[in-house]
Amino acid sequence: MSANEPSIGPSVRIETDRLVLRPVQAGDASAIHAGINDYAIVSMLANAPWPYGPGDAEAFVASMEARDRTREQPLAIEHRRHGLIGVTGFHASQDEAFPELGYWVARDHWGQGYASEAASAALVWAHEGWGKRAVRAGHFVENTASARVLVKAGMLYTGVVAPLYSKARGEAVPSRKMIWLA
Ligand SMILES: CC(C)(COP(=O)(O)OP(=O)(O)OC[C@H]1O[C@@H](n2cnc3c(N)ncnc32)[C@H](O)[C@@H]1OP(=O)(O)O)[C@@H](O)C(=O)NCCC(=O)NCCS
Repeated sequence: MSANEPSIGPSVRIETDRLVLRPVQAGDASAIHAGINDYAIVSMLANAPWPYGPGDAEAFVASMEARDRTREQPLAIEHRRHGLIGVTGFHASQDEAFPELGYWVARDHWGQGYASEAASAALVWAHEGWGKRAVRAGHFVENTASARVLVKAGMLYTGVVAPLYSKARGEAVPSRKMIWLA
């Protein structure tokens, strides 16, 4: 691969001071389950169930092979010393032009800037490594921690607040929509 060719596929590797973002892979399921099996996390996400069982993590990891890497890129957040501490990355929806950034960090590691470090690096890569010109995001209105992460990463509010179904809560929750332009 030449230096200018976008590094899509299993070769993605995004390095920051403390973290490496790399594709979710076989063997990650137990660490993902240990981190995400927390209502304070899944209740802030759209597509994660509650309770979140080991089988849900295994199904998530197993789904990686079928992903279209030109449209979505789930990435493990691996701490250089602590191992997998969360998941970030981009997912696609059929009716939206741009990928959407998402993330969670295991509770033991909150408040140390890891989500901010991961989100900012992922956005830079989305443009420079993946060739995207814009990225969407959104957060439930009460999720002030995620709001800070997204604003610090350079996301802007579109002014749209729309209901988004949360699988874990079993109901739609108002979500503030954001956009990042490369
Ligand atoms: C949101 C989440 C990823 C943040 O992870 P983190 O590694 O602790 O985040 P960071 O340390 O990088 O930064 C968090 C920011 O939110 C702020 N914050 C944290 N808790 C807060 C709260 N209850 N109210 C207001 N701000 C808060 C922090 O002060 C920090 O902002 P600052 O740098 O300006 O001080 C983590 O809490 C999480 O996984 N939550 C559940 C899943 C989720 O919400 N995902 C995003 C869906 S849109």
